[in-house]
Amino acid sequence: MCGIIGAVANRNIVPILVDGLKRLEYRGYDSAGLVVIDQHDQLQRLRRMGKVQELADGLVATPLNGHTGIAHTRWATHGAPSERNAHPHISGDLAIVHNGIIENYVALRSQLQTKGYEFTSDTDTEVIVHLIHSYWKNNDLLAAVQGAIKELQGAFALAIIVKHYPQRIIGVRQGSPLIIGIGKNEHFLTSDHLALLSVTQQFIFLEEGDLVDLTPEKLMIYDCDGKKIMRPIKTSDLAQEQATKGDYQHFMLKEIFEQAVASAQTLEGRLAGNHVLISAFGTKAEVLFPKIKHVQIVACGTSYHAGLVARYWLEQYAQISCQVEIASEFRYRDNVVQPDTLFLTLSQSGETADTLAALRKAKEQNYLSTLTICNKPESSLIRESELSLLTRAGPEMGVASTKAFTTQLTALLLFTACLAQVHGQDATTLITALRAIPEQIKTVLQLDPDIKKMATHFSRFRDTLFLGRGVEYPIALEAALKLKEISYIHAEAYPAGELKHGPLALVDENMPVIVIVPNDHLVEKLLSNVQEVNARGGRLFLFADQSINVVAEKNIHIIKVPTVNAIIAPIIYNIPLQLFAYHVAVLLGNDVDQPRNLAKSVTVE
Ligand code: F6R
Repeated sequence: MCGIIGAVANRNIVPILVDGLKRLEYRGYDSAGLVVIDQHDQLQRLRRMGKVQELADGLVATPLNGHTGIAHTRWATHGAPSERNAHPHISGDLAIVHNGIIENYVALRSQLQTKGYEFTSDTDTEVIVHLIHSYWKNNDLLAAVQGAIKELQGAFALAIIVKHYPQRIIGVRQGSPLIIGIGKNEHFLTSDHLALLSVTQQFIFLEEGDLVDLTPEKLMIYDCDGKKIMRPIKTSDLAQEQATKGDYQHFMLKEIFEQAVASAQTLEGRLAGNHVLISAFGTKAEVLFPKIKHVQIVACGTSYHAGLVARYWLEQYAQISCQVEIASEFRYRDNVVQPDTLFLTLSQSGETADTLAALRKAKEQNYLSTLTICNKPESSLIRESELSLLTRAGPEMGVASTKAFTTQLTALLLFTACLAQVHGQDATTLITALRAIPEQIKTVLQLDPDIKKMATHFSRFRDTLFLGRGVEYPIALEAALKLKEISYIHAEAYPAGELKHGPLALVDENMPVIVIVPNDHLVEKLLSNVQEVNARGGRLFLFADQSINVVAEKNIHIIKVPTVNAIIAPIIYNIPLQLFAYHVAVLLGNDVDQPRNLAKSVTVE
């Protein structure tokens, strides 16, 4: 949610800021802006409504040049998307960009208005810049920032410049990610290190409460108690190309096609013969895993759907009871902790505010331990969990999650096999199934042309129902989410057995029903549900095992899916459904990678 980038160097940093903003655009794209300190030590700001390209075009008409600057791409929280609400915000000689939410902004705003500050935007951010300004005495920028942030409640990452110090940036991390990029006689700040790969591979991932004072040559970090501290410098092994579209039209399509490789990466070095290497989950896993009697999974969105699949697996294959809950509900609920329960968070970004808050709550409770399955190595969830497993999906730039989900499922099946093994069961069949995932994904991706054709028969509809049974029910939920977020078609998912308890009333020629039909122990029951729709004139779109005897008719479209091991069927069936959502959205002319109103990495609650 919102992307921050800053640079302090001995060269013009405007192209670096704009390039960085383009790479951060997945975090928000309703407006963008930057401010630099020019050669006359004046603040020069440009802001534009809309995407970063609007700002880039604006810079062609109004070129800016400076050695120090900060920039921002916005996902609106307080105040509608508009140029006046776009960051950076300025108070006198100070400018800031902000990612996060200030919860006490109403009270602070009226205090500052009483002191004579005039507000030119509807944002919570403008409160911060005026507050710092109100603390700005004797040209002591550090003291002003330290004083002001003590008054702020909420989650934020900030980058601040002031024209009195034309070669200096101050950054603050308190609840939202902030990373330092280290160049040769230049320093950078960013919300995501991917944004800086074109200028450096060296990064410092700030800790909660850190404040950093940067000049081209020096960097000084202060911890939450104001003590000088050094954090480790990490070298990223990510190549710049990994965060580009390559030959694909959209990131989402590229990421769908990367899933065979991504799931192989998730498994790499974690299986030995017929065994899961338990140490893959952390050094303490060997001691903790045998004690696990229950698993509590908490996540949001697509990651929550991965958790729902895991519940079926854990209970069926490892005989470990499992509950799954949406993080924004869990964090505010009075919950009862069963003895020997592992608390498990799932997240692509590792920074989702609700999931992080749920983890922090769980750490205050009586859980056996905390484990996160996450895609971002330096994320808050990884750092704050006792145990962790990286999904290794690589950068996911499309706002709609695809390969992150598939690798979460792969990791969750690995976890299931590990618990089965630790609890004295034979995990061989699970491990055989795990090893088959990458090849099965490659096979199912070959259905792409058929799916594209099927999408043309579907794209005129405005509403749809998805049905699945058993472990395919969460896949139906995920498929509905994927379709609605990128095609804007209203989609709901039901366990197929629920159809006649209400939703069947919706079925007519304008309410198509999409059904996931693997050849498993529930297939006969599912085919009865299909007949119930057919008998009422409903339009059917089936993703069905090729061995099942269903025939395409005028009102029945079928994608024949190669027969797959039942254990990994949810992983495999999800992939044609991702392709289906993608092709429908493309046919409708939508911005697939950056759907309206959304952003990736939801760092506000
Ligand atoms: C949907 C999607 C979101 C995320 C959710 C959680 O395609 O991407 O629903 O799954 O915002 O994000 P993470 O996994 O980063 O915690």
